[in-house]
Amino acid sequence: MKTKFIELSDRSNMSKKYKRIIQKAGKLIKCGGLVAFPTETVYGLGGDAFNPESSAKIYKAKGRPSDNPLIIHIAEEESLKKIVKEIPNTAQILMQRFWPGPLTMIFNKQECIPTETTGGLDTVAVRMPRHPIALDFIRASGGFVAAPSANQSGKPSPTIAKYVWEDMNGKIDMILSSDTVDIGVESTIVDMTTKIPVILRPGFITKEMLQEALNQEHIDQVILGEETTDAPKAPGMKYKHYAPKGELIIIEGNEQAVIKRINQLVNAAKLAGEKTGVISTEGMQHAYCADVVKNLGEKENPMENAYNLYRVLRELDDEEVTKIYSESFCTKGMGQAVMNRLLKAAGNHIEYVSK
Ligand code: TXA
Ligand code: MG
Repeated sequence: MKTKFIELSDRSNMSKKYKRIIQKAGKLIKCGGLVAFPTETVYGLGGDAFNPESSAKIYKAKGRPSDNPLIIHIAEEESLKKIVKEIPNTAQILMQRFWPGPLTMIFNKQECIPTETTGGLDTVAVRMPRHPIALDFIRASGGFVAAPSANQSGKPSPTIAKYVWEDMNGKIDMILSSDTVDIGVESTIVDMTTKIPVILRPGFITKEMLQEALNQEHIDQVILGEETTDAPKAPGMKYKHYAPKGELIIIEGNEQAVIKRINQLVNAAKLAGEKTGVISTEGMQHAYCADVVKNLGEKENPMENAYNLYRVLRELDDEEVTKIYSESFCTKGMGQAVMNRLLKAAGNHIEYVSK
């Protein structure tokens, strides 16, 4: 299959060309095709949510197990009623507050959504993204676009269209490219089918933001690094995720001890013939003797860390690094999402150093 790569670096004030491209992309979806598109979190790989064959194609293109359900992307609040059984009050509040935006909510689904789209589940994940291209594209596609992140299953999600091309060229009909996405990690997922909403995947919308909106004391949440063993509620969390090709280990502890340990590991790996990489915080890059050192930004700036994370993991792959050692990052607010993804990328391999 020939994949069209189309640059839409701005909406050109709804120029004729822009409209034509969006209409074409929408038509492809309506005809059962697949189109990758930008959102404010990461790129998505879209297909018609009502068409079981489109979902099957998505699983095939990604190499994703078909029991890992897809998120349905909508562009209007009214659309939600058509696909879910009931909308709890709490969900109404969260919708008003955070949609359009990086929040995915899980509801009991209506029959019209094929189980192929929901990985066999009776529930459905729904999100209204805020990226203008995503919204225009969803509307042109008929309003219900099933879309996982547009990466090959297991790899870091694409935050730049170039990486969508690398993973999906020849497998899908079209890629809509935009400037880089602005958040950089996937949406927060909250299960609204339980009495108390449960965070299944941390993201830009934090537990504190949800609590504040709902004025509630307790929102359970998945504990960082533990989702892989127990039966996870978000099925996707049980698979290896977000991982670079090289082996990744996180080293946590006081600054000097971390530098010393990472350099020890780097030297040992070099002697064994490995190409080494380090993921550091701003200002620490020069402390390391690895072949490649990447900087995720200021330690106390989780937004910046999130924005850089997947690009850095991909760049380490591009440079064919085989052993990667990473500092750990701030877990306040959105930092939870950053450390959640980094731990998964490392297969939960973390070493604590004290001296
Ligand atoms: O930011 C995002 O959410 C991006 C963009 C493209 O919107 N999408 C994304 O989709 O990250 P994906 O497929 O890579 O991750 C969806 C996650 C998976 O872990 C999946 O198991 C979970 O959502 N999920 C989907 N439907 C679910 C359901 N009904 N119940 C529980 N978990 C569900
Ligand atoms: Mg994904």
